[in-house]
Amino acid sequence: MRLAVNIDHIATIREARKTDEPDPVAAAIICELAGAQGITVHLRGDRRHIQDRDVEILRRTVITHLNIEMAATTEMVRIAQTIKPDRVTLVPERKDEVTTEGGLDVVLHSGNVEKVARQLLDARIDVSIFVDPDLEQVRQCHKIGAPRIEINTGKFADAWNSRAPWQPDIEKIATAARAARKLGLVVLAGHGITYRNIDAIAGIPEIEELNIGHSIIARASLVGLDAAVREMAALMRNPRRLPK
Ligand code: PXP
Repeated sequence: MRLAVNIDHIATIREARKTDEPDPVAAAIICELAGAQGITVHLRGDRRHIQDRDVEILRRTVITHLNIEMAATTEMVRIAQTIKPDRVTLVPERKDEVTTEGGLDVVLHSGNVEKVARQLLDARIDVSIFVDPDLEQVRQCHKIGAPRIEINTGKFADAWNSRAPWQPDIEKIATAARAARKLGLVVLAGHGITYRNIDAIAGIPEIEELNIGHSIIARASLVGLDAAVREMAALMRNPRRLPK
């Protein structure tokens, strides 16, 4: 099972001050050096975190696999055709949402999703569709010619976090993954996966890759804090000589 790290939150911290740090490009390099097999970013219509500049430089920097999540709009297709990421994951997008709220309704938006997937595939960009673990959605992805899907694990994660029964959700994910594999789709998964709930997902053999963001960046902010404070305190004790 491959790990792709979603580094949107690095850009969220930068955009909180509209400054130049932390740089998601630097974060991507660190993730790759640590063993991540892919880098994922979500280029949102409102550019609330990842910017066009980021995807341009990431395309030239990432040496593993660059996956850009985006809405199935004309603007995003044009950007993808120019940037040429290794993969585009089509996701639903609502302006006021805190994060992606659910899978794309491929049954409802079949015509547009099929058209966009075709445009991307024609540009030699791999396509994945983020869908809920629902057999009708999985079959529709296959019908419109998508080569891969990313199963939304968010509902399972919500159940786990609220200590509600999570086994039915894992069962749904496993069933959807099996059905997708049988249809010849490559199966990925993501959303809400944490250091605590990973074991349940990691045991599903059909899933080839996980996209994990929040939990990894949240942990990084804590495990890196000790060194960051020590470095600043050392500079205060021993200021560097300023250039004349
Ligand atoms: N997959 C998709 C399609 C997403 O939109 C996100 C969040 O941007 C993730 C995976 C990662 O979710 P999380 O940040 O909860 O790990």
